[in-house]
Amino acid sequence: MQRTSAMIVALATLTLGTAPLAKAGPAADLKAFQAYFQTRFPMLALKNYVDGPYNFSANDRAQWKQILEFPPYSFAVDAGKTAFGTKFPDGADYASCFSQGGIGIAQDYPKFDEKTGKVVTIGIAINECRKRHGLKPLSLTKGELADIVAYMTSTSDGKLIHVVIPNDKRAIAAYEAGKEYFYSRRGQLNFSCASCHVQAAGKRLRGQYLAPALGITASFPVYRSKWGDVGTLVRRFIGCNRKVRSVPAKPDSAAYRDLAYFLTYMSNGLPIAGPGARS
Ligand code: HEC
Repeated sequence: MQRTSAMIVALATLTLGTAPLAKAGPAADLKAFQAYFQTRFPMLALKNYVDGPYNFSANDRAQWKQILEFPPYSFAVDAGKTAFGTKFPDGADYASCFSQGGIGIAQDYPKFDEKTGKVVTIGIAINECRKRHGLKPLSLTKGELADIVAYMTSTSDGKLIHVVIPNDKRAIAAYEAGKEYFYSRRGQLNFSCASCHVQAAGKRLRGQYLAPALGITASFPVYRSKWGDVGTLVRRFIGCNRKVRSVPAKPDSAAYRDLAYFLTYMSNGLPIAGPGARS
């Protein structure tokens, strides 16, 4: 506990004002963001960032590799495949709601929907599909939906993240809102996402290495031993909001959609490495 407080104080005293991004638009932001990390960690190739916290400790990495010999998420992938292939009561199925029947497309999410003007994550797209066919939405954080996302993501393994921000005022506003959320301090501890995942990236907090924000979305959904099951990116957002004692947003909120849009876009060009496993 003492160690934790010391770390929190240490983090709080870091110079946090210097976010690497200025108001320059998505493409310039992306370049600056990736360059920042590459200068900071010259030993890491771009594709290494998808390993997140396991780039910083040989010991943790060895344990993680051992866990991956029998991937703990494989049950979720199997369950997700079955759920994905099951027909709805009206005879339609998930495949009918997606391009390419939903196979090998996870790297294109989140997407901006020009009809609604909103960002759609892959989980939200699954729920929209259900609603269209008269079914209730599923929890966006875990359970059946996380399993389906795990399956769909597994069919994109190794494909390069390719999030598009069209030249549409609403899409750019969503991107800017996500960026703003990422760099804004909140909670009793007054940390932003960037405090931990940019400024303190690669440092230890409560025995865990802080994943750099670059590549941080690439392994989701993840099986976490702490959870005992598979959870989505939104589940992680909620957990990290709670860490700094701030009130999490709703799983389908604009705040989290936009945050996922910004954060995933920053990893464009990195390979999908999900589903993943984390301690
Ligand atoms: C106080 C530091 C702290 C802050 C602030 C924080 N996180 Fe985290 N984050 C962590 C830690 C520590 C982990 C590792 C797992 C754990 O201990 O829960 C983590 C893990 C993650 C992961 C999973 C990384 C991986 O490879 O498994 C994501 C994604 C993430 N955080 C996103 C965010 C976002 C988005 C925000 C802002 C809403 C945020 N975090 C704010 C400390 C923080």
